[in-house]
Amino acid sequence: MSDSLDLAAFPADFTWGTATSAYQIEGAVAEDGRAPSIWDTFSHTPGKIDNDDHGDVACDHYHRWPEDIALMKRLGADAYRLSVAWPRVVPGGDGPVNAAGLDFYDRLVDGLLDAGITPNVTLYHWDLPQALQDRGGWTARETAEHLAEYASVVAGRLGDRVTQWATLNEPLCSGWIGHLEGRMAPGLTDLTAAVHASYHLLLAHGLATRAIRAAAPGAQIGLVTNHSTIEAASTRPEDLAAATRMDGHTNRWWLDPVYGRGFPADMRELYGVELPERPGDLDTIAAPLDWHGLNYYFPATVTDDPQGPVPYAREVRLPDVPRTGMDWQIDAGGLEALLLRLTDDYGVRKLYVTENGSAFPDAVSPDGEVHDPDRARYLEQHVGACARAVRKGAPLAGYYAWSLLDNFEWAYGYDKRFGLVHVDYATQARTVKTSGRRYADIIRAHRQSHA
Ligand code: IFM
Repeated sequence: MSDSLDLAAFPADFTWGTATSAYQIEGAVAEDGRAPSIWDTFSHTPGKIDNDDHGDVACDHYHRWPEDIALMKRLGADAYRLSVAWPRVVPGGDGPVNAAGLDFYDRLVDGLLDAGITPNVTLYHWDLPQALQDRGGWTARETAEHLAEYASVVAGRLGDRVTQWATLNEPLCSGWIGHLEGRMAPGLTDLTAAVHASYHLLLAHGLATRAIRAAAPGAQIGLVTNHSTIEAASTRPEDLAAATRMDGHTNRWWLDPVYGRGFPADMRELYGVELPERPGDLDTIAAPLDWHGLNYYFPATVTDDPQGPVPYAREVRLPDVPRTGMDWQIDAGGLEALLLRLTDDYGVRKLYVTENGSAFPDAVSPDGEVHDPDRARYLEQHVGACARAVRKGAPLAGYYAWSLLDNFEWAYGYDKRFGLVHVDYATQARTVKTSGRRYADIIRAHRQSHA
């Protein structure tokens, strides 16, 4: 219950938000000049997505955004983390800007501000214009330069009203899952491509940071990365080494260069791929940030797997632990530990939890309600973990629940529901779930704790 949460741990100006991303909710994929992204291509490739689902309509947010803002208001949220679709704004990836695409985000931002909700805008949440993929995608250095040009266009248009910016969402997923594991767009399974993509993604982050600062003085800029705590399955030296490798692959590869340490030497050696490095790149990647966004969902326990794929560490499925509908282990302690690691080890001075949430197979009950006690419990446990981290010194400024709405969960399609608000995809009816009401209670109780 929110009564037992230590909400007074959070500062009075703590931000409570919800998050979504463009391809997962907008739909309207062929409207007003939007061109295809790699996710349109991937999701329309048979067999890539459960049930062959795709984002063509999704939550129809492109048309229903006023209703969705009203839902945020009902929850009492202070902020909304959204992403801009690059293929709406610069359909070819580089070249002409699509005014109608920019106008959509302009209206959305105005609508949020009118409702008293602060927009936090992510520039890249995985929807690379297909035209750029056709020219090498993230394996090509030019893609990083084009992200910066697009960032400058968006910041130039919205920067008079938007102060909170994130360059990329979860480059690990674009880099590793999209280019090494093949489970996400563009669906490659090529280590060299993956390492080059990871490098160019981080370079793009640095170049975009510079571009946003130039276009929107006063912008508060962050990077959003996803991490897991990594445990060894045993004290065997092989398992301990596997845990170090998995930590390098999941955590250090994405954080060390951003915080001025360069790419970790042990992982460079393990991958055995030459980086497409040019003088000055590492300084660009390590451009000072105003905040860091942590996306946290689950911890991992690993064992040595010398015959398996890079990084030769396999996740072990622990028996008898609580899990979400994604089969992800629930462990709020991992969130606390990662917030403290970013604070103590990387010296981050302002943190947000930019995503955290759980999927469960919800349905509308005959009473018209969506009862989702498991999600409400997950939310409380993780907000509690945030409070503990704050008490221990983490400079946590906000928490964004993933997600405002049930939406297109990438390779899992629409069956995995993460929303605080249920979406009936046949009618597009929205129903606030019990967890959404619980979140509203938490937000209210926090405000009262400072009244
Ligand atoms: O839905 C995704 C989101 O797009 C990125 N972070 C993880 C979420 C749940 O898988």
